[in-house]
Amino acid sequence: MPKHRANPNSIVQAAAILRAGGLVAFPTETVYGLGADATNGLAVAALYAAKGRPTFNPLIVHVPQTEAAAALADLTPLALKLAEAFWPGPLTLVLAKRPVRIIADLATAGLDTIAFRVPAHPIAQALLRAADLPIAAPSANRSGHVSPTTAAHVEADLGDRVGMILDGGATPVGLESTVIDATGTDAIILRLGAVTREAIEKVTGRSIRAADGDETAPSSPGMLARHYAPAAKLRLNAHEARKGDALLAFGPVVPAHDGPTINLSPSADLVEAAANLFAALRALDASGAGTIAVMPIPSHGLGEAINDRLRRAAQAS
Ligand code: TXA
Ligand code: MG
Repeated sequence: MPKHRANPNSIVQAAAILRAGGLVAFPTETVYGLGADATNGLAVAALYAAKGRPTFNPLIVHVPQTEAAAALADLTPLALKLAEAFWPGPLTLVLAKRPVRIIADLATAGLDTIAFRVPAHPIAQALLRAADLPIAAPSANRSGHVSPTTAAHVEADLGDRVGMILDGGATPVGLESTVIDATGTDAIILRLGAVTREAIEKVTGRSIRAADGDETAPSSPGMLARHYAPAAKLRLNAHEARKGDALLAFGPVVPAHDGPTINLSPSADLVEAAANLFAALRALDASGAGTIAVMPIPSHGLGEAINDRLRRAAQAS
C-alpha cells in the first residue's frame, strides 16, 4: 500500500524517493500533485508514463519560495508583484526560462518558458524543503480524469504506479491553481483557477485578458477539453433532473429527484462549491448515471473557474 499518513517520518521517506528518481503524490492547497525531480529527465518521463499524459503538455515546477524560481526564470516586474501578493499560494506563473540547464527539457515540453508555483500547503512545503529539489507536479490523476482532491482519489487512479502517496486529508481549495502568463507587462490568464480574476485585477490594477479558447494554440497546452472529463455526459444549467440522471445541485432550492444527488453548497457558497466539485463529479460518475444534470452556478468569483471546468467536462462527453 503506497498510501501513508503525512508526518515527519513519511515526509523524509517521500523526499528520499523523489531524490532517487521516484514518484510521490502529495497534497497541495489546490489538488493532489504527482511529484518528480524536475532536474531528472528519466523521473519526469516516468511521471508522464504514470499519468498516461501527452508528452507535449508542460508541467508546473514547484519550489518552496520565490527566490528558488528567480534563480531559474526571469521574474518580470509583473511576476514579482503577483508573487508578492499570492505566493505561497494557488497561483502559477509562466516565466521566461533563464539559460541555466537545470530543469529537464521534458518537464517544460521543450518550451522556452517555464511554469512555477510556490504552494502554501504545509505538507507540500515540508516535502519541497526536505527534497531540496525543484519538483515537477501535475495533478495526480490519470490523464483525462478530474483532478484528485483526496488521497483515495489518487489511489484509485494511480495506486499501483507511484512510490508513495502522502495522505494529508482533503485539499482545502479543490480547484487547480490559476495559471498566468507573466512574461510581459500585462497578465494573461492561461487557466482559470483558485485565485479569482477579480483578486488578480485588484493587484495589477488592470483588467485581465483570458487567452482565447483556441484549443490548438500552444499557449496553455493543458487546456484540452478532455482534461476534465467524467465518463457520464453533463447537462449544464439544468433546472430539473430526468429519470436516470444524477443531479449536481447548488444552492438552497433543489428540484425534486429520486436519483443520486449531491449539493455542492446548500448555502450557495462558491468557495464551498469549489472544494466539493471534483469529489462530487467522481462520485456521481461512479453512480453509473448516463447523464449528470448540473444546476446553474453563478459565474462571479470562483464560479468563473467552476463553470470553466464544467464546460470542459460537458464538451468532452
Ligand atoms: O493546482 C495546480 O496547479 C496543480 C497542483 C498539483 O500544483 N497542478 C496542476 O498541474 O494542475 P497540471 O499539469 O495538471 O496543469 C498544468 C497547467 C497545464 O494547463 C499546462 O499546460 C500549463 O499549466 N503550463 C505548464 N507549463 C506551461 C508553460 N510553460 N506555458 C504555458 N502553460 C503551461
Ligand atoms: Mg491536471
